[in-house]
Amino acid sequence: MSAPNKSYDPVEVEALKPEEIERLRDEAFAAFAAAGDLDALAQAKTAHTGGTSPLSLANREIGALPPQAKAEAGKRVGQARGAVSKALAARQAELEAERDARVLVEEAVDVTLPYDRVPAGARHPLTTIMERVADVFVAMGYEIAEGPEVEAEWFNFDALNFVPDHPARQMQDTFFVQGTTPDGKVTEGDESGVVLRTHTSPVQARSLLERKPPVYVVCPGRVYRTDELDATHTPVFHQIELLAVDEGLTMADLKGTLDHMVQALFGPDMKTRLRPNFFPFTEPSAEMDMVCYVCRGESVGNPDRPCRTCGSEGWIELGGCGMVNPKVLTACGVDPRKYSGFAFGFGIERMLMFRHNVEDMRDMVEGDVRFTRPFGMEI
Ligand code: DAH
Repeated sequence: MSAPNKSYDPVEVEALKPEEIERLRDEAFAAFAAAGDLDALAQAKTAHTGGTSPLSLANREIGALPPQAKAEAGKRVGQARGAVSKALAARQAELEAERDARVLVEEAVDVTLPYDRVPAGARHPLTTIMERVADVFVAMGYEIAEGPEVEAEWFNFDALNFVPDHPARQMQDTFFVQGTTPDGKVTEGDESGVVLRTHTSPVQARSLLERKPPVYVVCPGRVYRTDELDATHTPVFHQIELLAVDEGLTMADLKGTLDHMVQALFGPDMKTRLRPNFFPFTEPSAEMDMVCYVCRGESVGNPDRPCRTCGSEGWIELGGCGMVNPKVLTACGVDPRKYSGFAFGFGIERMLMFRHNVEDMRDMVEGDVRFTRPFGMEI
């Protein structure tokens, strides 16, 4: 800052000359106008209005003037600074408006574009049905039990009272897993004692060995048989198994449980019926049918209203069931004099076929999402 000069001569204070002030003001105007965006304007703002800008420095010079000159110079500099901040505010508003307009265009959303270019997958209806069935029993206090798909022949057959020469063990039904004997020889055919499980029933034996009665389990899972893939067979399919072992269980408990299941899955007026059958692991054993889900029995003896789903029989075969054979309880360390049990098992693919009119099993295994998606999402 210059020293106060008593004999005021405005010429001496160069920075306060009217032309100089005008020049500084016009320079600021030009810099603001030249700023093409808000960043550039911020820089111009510092350069022309900041503490070390020429106009701020000129303002400080006023203090050095003799009192009679201060007012005039102050007015001049003040007006120039006022005009500069107005110009700055105007340019600021202009650039902000430009930016907002640009953002609106650049960030506009084209609502006609596909909303999702990566098509979502869908849950397979077999998974959904298995979970639904399992949920019916989980709600009744049953546990979900699982076992391996590569299973010991003992669990798959022997523990379940299949005699050694039972036809189901034969090569045409069962996939035997090749193994190596302790002396390095590769096993042939059915020598290995290891199979791909042919049903979920071995999980019954595993559950009994793992737990102490009372045992209430449901076992959903994948099973294997040496069938060719065609419209009604697949070598890999799914079953759900149920086992209840407790004191005093009878066939009436089995029937009540089956009726409850079909009512929960297919509607309150559903029921099941049992037909005598044979399974080595149940005694007595039965085949279980449920009222036809489509015609509800109305097609029986009624040629005007034939039903394709049940062949106008009024009943659909669900699977097998029975009272657990005491030999199975004994093999699994459960005393059959104290405990009794019931069990059933059925195929999920078949249930999907009649519940949803799927006519060809191959559609279920091909993995085409166009088959899966119409079943919708169930969580
Ligand atoms: N495991 C039998 C099959 O695959 C089905 C079955 C029958 C399961 C009777 C059971 C049962 O639990 O009690 O054909």
